Amino acid sequence: MHTTALGDGLRTSAMGFGAMALTPVYGGTDDATALAVLNAAIDDGITLIDTADVYGQPEPGADGPAGTNETLVARLLADRRDEVVLATKFGITGRIGAAARDDSVAGVKRTRGDARYVREACDASLRRLGADVIDLYYLHRRDPDVPIEETVGAMAELVAAGKVRHLGLSEVTAAELRAAHAVAPIAAVQSEWSLWSRDVEANVVPACAELGVGFVPYSPLGRGFLTGTLTRDQVAGDLRGSTSRTGDNWAANQRVVEVVAAVAARLGATNAQVALAWLYAAGRRAGLPVVPIPGTRSAARVAENAAAADLVLDEEALTTLDDVADLVVGSRNIAADPTWISAGRE
Ligand SMILES: NC(=O)c1ccc[n+]([C@@H]2O[C@H](COP(=O)([O-])OP(=O)(O)OC[C@H]3O[C@@H](n4cnc5c(N)ncnc54)[C@H](OP(=O)(O)O)[C@@H]3O)[C@@H](O)[C@H]2O)c1
Repeated sequence: MHTTALGDGLRTSAMGFGAMALTPVYGGTDDATALAVLNAAIDDGITLIDTADVYGQPEPGADGPAGTNETLVARLLADRRDEVVLATKFGITGRIGAAARDDSVAGVKRTRGDARYVREACDASLRRLGADVIDLYYLHRRDPDVPIEETVGAMAELVAAGKVRHLGLSEVTAAELRAAHAVAPIAAVQSEWSLWSRDVEANVVPACAELGVGFVPYSPLGRGFLTGTLTRDQVAGDLRGSTSRTGDNWAANQRVVEVVAAVAARLGATNAQVALAWLYAAGRRAGLPVVPIPGTRSAARVAENAAAADLVLDEEALTTLDDVADLVVGSRNIAADPTWISAGRE
């Protein structure tokens, strides 16, 4: 697979892999299969492996972020550290699923970005990952009570200490990105961007292009919806079914899947490949490097998704796909709080 330079000299495979659902969040998993999927990703030429301290289950006796997704990734790193561009995140202190679904968490502080917490979170991730250094360390969600300059200043100290190589930000606004980038170079913004989630194109994507910051689109398959393989019953109990798009508007949004499927059929590709290839085209048009991180619990689907790095969409496909977002009914936000995603704060 060819490689892509994000910002700050960070080079990764053109396609990354999102490990979040390798610990239960979108249905069941087991550790042996999950480890096989991670190995398959590396075998397919993927280098960028994306995890977070908050993914998975809490470690026994711990009351902080979950941790077991990082300990799973540690098992890959134990054998193949040199082949991995290791990305993890800190800053969400609650449980992501609970924050999305449970109204009782409204008003409870769910993020932390004070300097002391930044240092503690990094040390805890390094310990769980069994690693000496994190290649790309993201602020997962900003803390509204702490200036982003303080958070990023503490992150920059981690770089100076040799614990982290590059810095990233997730779900930041353009203004937050500019303020952070003035403190320390930001290699990548990771936010939701896909055929049906295009709000980042208004402000964040142009700011990234201007500042030389790369973009890592998360949920590039619309949490699986765009692939056309999910049923409403299948996602009803998890995060994939938590948005207004995937609840009552499930049927209305099938129109989106139909358009993607028609393009895929004409090109002899799959829906997933078309959705991923569209992101590369969108990145080229916006003038910034894009490395999507689709997630799957299946080694066969890792290979299918990786192959999209070489799929080039023709003008007819792009014109059709560009109109898909206009068909979407409902918001991309998984939380009741509109400020949870960058568009809610722009
Ligand atoms: N920064 C953030 O706030 C944030 C938020 C969400 C996610 N992320 C990151 O982004 C990564 C990816 O996002 P995501 O997992 O939410 O969504 P996604 O990659 O858009 O979609 C994942 C879903 O698509 C299915 N899938 C994957 N490949 C497929 C294929 N070729 N054909 C059919 N179905 C396919 C998966 O099911 P199976 O497992 O059954 O294949 C799963 O249900 C995560 O792993 C995580 O690392 C970051």
